[in-house]
Amino acid sequence: MRILSGIQPSGVLHIGNYFGMMQPAIALQAQGEAFYFIADYHALTSLRDPKALRENSRRVALDFLACGLDPERAALFRQSDVPQVTELAWILSTVAPMGLLERAHSYKDKIARGIASSAGLFNYPVLMAADILIYDSDAVPVGKDQKQHIEITRDLAVKMNETFGQIFKLPEPRIHTATEVVPGIDGQKMSKSYGNNIDIFGAEKETRKRVMSIVTDSTPVEAPKDLARSTIFELYSLFATKNEIAEMRERFQKGGTGYGDFKKELFEKLWLYFAPMRKRREEILADKSYIDNVLSRGAKRANEVADVVMKRVRAAVGL
Ligand code: AMP
Ligand code: TRP
Repeated sequence: MRILSGIQPSGVLHIGNYFGMMQPAIALQAQGEAFYFIADYHALTSLRDPKALRENSRRVALDFLACGLDPERAALFRQSDVPQVTELAWILSTVAPMGLLERAHSYKDKIARGIASSAGLFNYPVLMAADILIYDSDAVPVGKDQKQHIEITRDLAVKMNETFGQIFKLPEPRIHTATEVVPGIDGQKMSKSYGNNIDIFGAEKETRKRVMSIVTDSTPVEAPKDLARSTIFELYSLFATKNEIAEMRERFQKGGTGYGDFKKELFEKLWLYFAPMRKRREEILADKSYIDNVLSRGAKRANEVADVVMKRVRAAVGL
């Protein structure tokens, strides 16, 4: 089985990225041949600062490695180190119906959030389809917000296969069902652009402050608390064991514990959870050439596969 996923180097990674995409991707690396990349071409649709793009790309590689991506099992590389993917994106764009792209939520959401519209932003799903199809990917671990992009990928693959004969495999999304959407401190989907993020490798003081500012209702300390809409409980469930979750559930329902205390418990759990990864991150940082070596090995492997698939595509379409 071939597993593929990508993440944009748009800034610091948060626990929504971790549980939505990174952790499932890391868990899958043992089950097949994994390709994970830093989507720097995609990031150009919203980031126009070369220094920041370069730095963010390295930082995402660092954080991913620190969180457990094993470069012996998975190829980690920059999207732009496999430029063939833009050739495939062009070919796919010639069969991509306008209506299909016009229906993409992420384009509309991004425009609504103030990102400038561009042909690149509109074509974002086509490049993403090329990312997936160029490695003959079977499984794509992503957060729920990316599901429509995988559906578009499948539609484009089918269209190519119908037009030019069997070229592409149809990939399946792998969406972590327990954590479809990780909430941020205001209860909305956690996202850097909403400013409600808790970062994986934030400083201790800042992380504590973010956890303590999770929005709650005004139920008094003595009273039972509503579990169903509690961001504290939802986040705690990501980090704690079954027994610990059951125990917090009981204390929510019984009353007598204030939200402030629950938040402190959440902070402790979260901080402890990422402790080994913080340590690993320091080790990686101490080895100056480690990241570059990993990325260049990853790029080499990715290019080998992409070249084979592109040969097939070019032959099929008549180039
Ligand atoms: P982004 O930073 O929005 O490009 O997201 C990178 C990856 O993290 C994608 O696979 C997203 O689906 C996933 N992701 C981002 N935010 C969340 C969230 N709040 N909950 C679950 N998954 C998320
Ligand atoms: N669009 C994805 C995101 O914003 C990143 C991405 C680009 C991706 N290409 C991909 C994810 C291919 C999976 C497969 O998170």
